[in-house]
Amino acid sequence: MAIHLRSPEELEKMHRAGLVVHEVLQALRKFVRPGITTMDLEEEARRLIAGKPGKPAFKGYRGYPCVLCTSVNSEIVHGIPSPKRKLQEGDIVSIDFGMEVDGYYGDSAVTVPVGEIKPEVKKLLDVTRESLDRAIDKMRAGNRLGDVGHAVQSLVEQNGFSVVREFVGHGIGTKMHDEPNLPNYGEPGRGARLQEGMVIAVEPMVNAGRPDVRMRDEWTAETADGRPSAHFEHTVAITANGPWILTRPKAMTGPAW
Ligand code: MF3
Ligand code: CO
Repeated sequence: MAIHLRSPEELEKMHRAGLVVHEVLQALRKFVRPGITTMDLEEEARRLIAGKPGKPAFKGYRGYPCVLCTSVNSEIVHGIPSPKRKLQEGDIVSIDFGMEVDGYYGDSAVTVPVGEIKPEVKKLLDVTRESLDRAIDKMRAGNRLGDVGHAVQSLVEQNGFSVVREFVGHGIGTKMHDEPNLPNYGEPGRGARLQEGMVIAVEPMVNAGRPDVRMRDEWTAETADGRPSAHFEHTVAITANGPWILTRPKAMTGPAW
């Protein structure tokens, strides 16, 4: 199986999906405050989607029950919204959301602080966000997948944190998960060569402590050591003009999150 190369017309369609994802995530991150539950976030997301084109990508995917993944503190990814999971001051919550519009997908995630957070947790968010920026900057024709993974891994490890191995970024297009896989680690100059028209969901998952993962339930991955984990994601196309972040407006420049 080959990696799909998307035409400019297809990229515009993916951008339409990406813009819906962007709008919903921007509204949700402002909605986060101490006292709400992760199910409140889910319900708000459902309200926000109503009337927008397309359909949420996660609900029904391999039986997943919700439109969002909400992963709190030591939860890494794929946390299931619950009315029992109340957010408290000092928590962090990763909100992960995808849409399918006109047959094309967008996928993005942001980790949001709940009120004031500890300086060491703030640093985890800052480093993970910065690792996404550095990865996106490597999303250029001629580079290799290992260059992108290495950009994440080197920054993360220099800061004393660790990258998760069990979950990876992924090709995205007319399916949510497509070839290639993009590990958040790697060696420069190794792996498949990046070409114009490739689209990849770049999603560093960074643990404050050890990289080891355990499953809390059928879906929820959490850190084995119980320390916090952060996650940021964008859907990124490789173009002649460099990386194009499809999950935000064209006019938006600067740091990805
Ligand atoms: N962004 C997540 C991923 O790429 C979303 C998939 S979660 C699922 O893995 F619930 F849809 F499975
Ligand atoms: Co993804």
